[in-house]
Amino acid sequence: MQGFRSGRGGTEPLAIEAVRVLGASWPTPLRVRDVAHDELLAELLQSAPIFPVWLERALTGARRSLLFAASSEDFALLKSRIAIQCHLNEYAWAEDATETQLVEVLASSLEDLTPDQVMSLACYRPLARLPGADALLEKGWTGPVRSVLQEQILDVREEQAIAAALPTLTPVSDGVSQAVQSQYEANPYPKWRRAGPGPLQTHVNGHPLPKKPSVFIAGCGTGRQAILATLMLDSSHTLAVDLSRASLAYAVRKTRELGISDRITYAQADIMELPADLGPFDVVQSTGVLHHMDDPFEGARKVCRLAKPGGFVAIGLYSALARDHLKPGKALGRQYTPETVREFRQAIIDSAHDDPVRAPAVASRDFYASSGCRDLLMHVQEHEMNFDDLRRMLRENDLTFLGFIQYTFKEIRDPYRAMFPQDPEGLDLDCWEAFEAAHPATFRRMYQFWARKAG
Ligand SMILES: C[S@@+](CC[C@H](N)C(=O)[O-])C[C@H]1O[C@@H](n2cnc3c(N)ncnc32)[C@H](O)[C@@H]1O
Repeated sequence: MQGFRSGRGGTEPLAIEAVRVLGASWPTPLRVRDVAHDELLAELLQSAPIFPVWLERALTGARRSLLFAASSEDFALLKSRIAIQCHLNEYAWAEDATETQLVEVLASSLEDLTPDQVMSLACYRPLARLPGADALLEKGWTGPVRSVLQEQILDVREEQAIAAALPTLTPVSDGVSQAVQSQYEANPYPKWRRAGPGPLQTHVNGHPLPKKPSVFIAGCGTGRQAILATLMLDSSHTLAVDLSRASLAYAVRKTRELGISDRITYAQADIMELPADLGPFDVVQSTGVLHHMDDPFEGARKVCRLAKPGGFVAIGLYSALARDHLKPGKALGRQYTPETVREFRQAIIDSAHDDPVRAPAVASRDFYASSGCRDLLMHVQEHEMNFDDLRRMLRENDLTFLGFIQYTFKEIRDPYRAMFPQDPEGLDLDCWEAFEAAHPATFRRMYQFWARKAG
């Protein structure tokens, strides 16, 4: 059985290894010229929000030095990649008053800037939001600045055009749905660049999947899940819906980039309002979504009824126990607003190492982009679930439990089998409940499970 969210596979192990290599090879204290031509760093900067804290701090310092340094060809590549990185992490890094002052001067004279100055500005502010930014495209600039203009203006304009033209399947009238939509319109999630699909999945824990299944994704976010499902299940067609047009627009752009637009249809819809006669589908997935609804059980009913009799359902839900360690960070998050995410992150980074807000937050990859940080610690709406909730969801929707994705991970499977040799398939929820009580971090990546609807 394989995963239905790429949290584990894909490019993540590569990024972790790249950070380890950088940490082992870089001199301290770090000087910009030591890293200006580091190809691994250049690649990492445009691949995913940078982590962990030591690397973010080093690069925040490098960005500052580059802002105040005289223009130099030598640093152009690094500057362009930092500009791309900061766009990717939604300007989550700390900025001091002198930086702000200079950045504001640059922003006020956009049309007169050199390519180097434009890159400096793009390291601190999203170009597409600045008046007159599109005129930069007419200057015929090539080289590193061009990749910044592509990322920060051309791609953004393409997404805006896509968002305006997206089909609307249902209205969004529920109050909670509207609040959730507004969070993800401002900060589409997750921030990803490369999907890195795994091998073809033909079975779910011994149950053969239909060939070329029809797939429905409820709450597809920025599209990675829909793309992975389409490729890994070899779907005949995938319909993916979400509340957020900005998230869907990113999904459409990435799907086009991968050349599989004919296999996925994206549309705006509120799960609460999905028509009962949609589908039915061979496979229905909803990961990290239902717990953001007013009533996750009602949401599950709306989603599960779209699966065919005998169809497969994959669900991901927050575990209350696994998220218990985030409580202090979430309490602190309530003192901040979407406009002060940067200050919130700095408060956490600057807190004492034994402060309970710090370790759980900085250990999460989500912490390193504004959208992820909001998703992790400042969500407008979330429920946390337990095993009674899982049993209820399965029962109410006539679902047979087919296993947790986590059971495919050796470091979870081995201790589980040692503790419960009587359940070699990992299908007994009572055993899993006891296992989670003994190992509360088991479902840090949510309860992610497959189930099958009664035939
Ligand atoms: C944490 S993201 C997960 C995205 C994606 N499933 C993934 O795993 O990458 C949650 C997504 O659920 C969507 N969502 C939440 N409530 C929804 C609803 N009522 N109807 C449709 N989408 C919803 C949000 O807009 C957001 O994009």
